[in-house]
Amino acid sequence: MNLNVNFCGIQFPNPTVLASGYLGVTGASLANCTSKGAGGVTSKTLLMKERTGHANPTILTFPGGVINAVGLSGEGIGNAKHEFEKYRELAPENPIIGSVGGHDIDEIVEVAQIMDEYPVDMLELNFSCPNVEGEMGKPIACDPLITAQATKAVRQVTKKPITVKLSPNVPDIGLVAKHAEANGADAITAVNTMGPGMVIDIQMRRPILTNKVGGVSGHAIKPIAVRCVWDIYRSVKIPIIATGGVINGRDALEMMMAGGSLLGIGSAIVYHDLKCFDMITDKIRAFMEEEGLNDISELVGLAHEEGFDRDKL
Ligand SMILES: Cc1cc2nc3c(=O)[nH]c(=O)nc-3n(C[C@H](O)[C@H](O)[C@H](O)COP(=O)(O)O)c2cc1C
Repeated sequence: MNLNVNFCGIQFPNPTVLASGYLGVTGASLANCTSKGAGGVTSKTLLMKERTGHANPTILTFPGGVINAVGLSGEGIGNAKHEFEKYRELAPENPIIGSVGGHDIDEIVEVAQIMDEYPVDMLELNFSCPNVEGEMGKPIACDPLITAQATKAVRQVTKKPITVKLSPNVPDIGLVAKHAEANGADAITAVNTMGPGMVIDIQMRRPILTNKVGGVSGHAIKPIAVRCVWDIYRSVKIPIIATGGVINGRDALEMMMAGGSLLGIGSAIVYHDLKCFDMITDKIRAFMEEEGLNDISELVGLAHEEGFDRDKL
């Protein structure tokens, strides 16, 4: 049985990929995820300069999910090179995706240009963080035309494969994906957190997050993420890293049947620790055995009606 995924020419030993933002700051913590079963990893989003992010509390759980307003804290792209090198040394067989961010298109291009020189297999363009609007404006992925412009600008500075990370907070995510594809994206990552949302402390009578609002992730957003992946699968030919609320094997299978080739796994770590990667892969393997499937690619898009052919899009 083959669980390997060839994604934009990159070989992943299984479909699980650590999503950006969880355990993604140091090479050692990223490699720890692959040693526990992740097929590949995504770094925390990096900007040009060091960024503190929002004041604590920045992350909390609620029944069914997680809400965060971390606010893209990080050390800045210039200081992060050694972490990618460390990861490469510790996990030579597992791909790493470098997440690129910025306040505007110019900064995103600058970060991408630097990331291009780093030992990463692919660049993920984070056009969809919902909790930095105060400083960075509406996420790029909320507008198909700005998504087109930003993707095109990055395409000119790197030959590495690019995946564009989209927001679920749009009326037509398929349209945004089409604009990314038409301007040089090799893949789509969908989705980033939803919202923003809010949780109120009823004793204090105030929102709990210092930032008041944050992006919602985890199981609560899974049906929306599945629908987003479904819409994208029917809109573009490029492959999808299906992300959002995948916390067990059943969720993973739904995502693959909707059209995901790889699975972004983030909040599952809160529920199941790093066991989540093996748990998910084991369930996919068991399902394939039961159903007589030999290659994991046979699962991708299985929920779409017979005769639906993406190559004809
Ligand atoms: C605490 C936290 C930090 C995150 N940081 C980033 C980030 O830096 N860049 C990014 O593209 N997405 C970030 N995300 C979004 C995740 O990568 C993912 O798209 C989202 O959480 C949905 O997947 P999940 O339900 O499996 O967590 C973050 C999410 C959380 C909860």
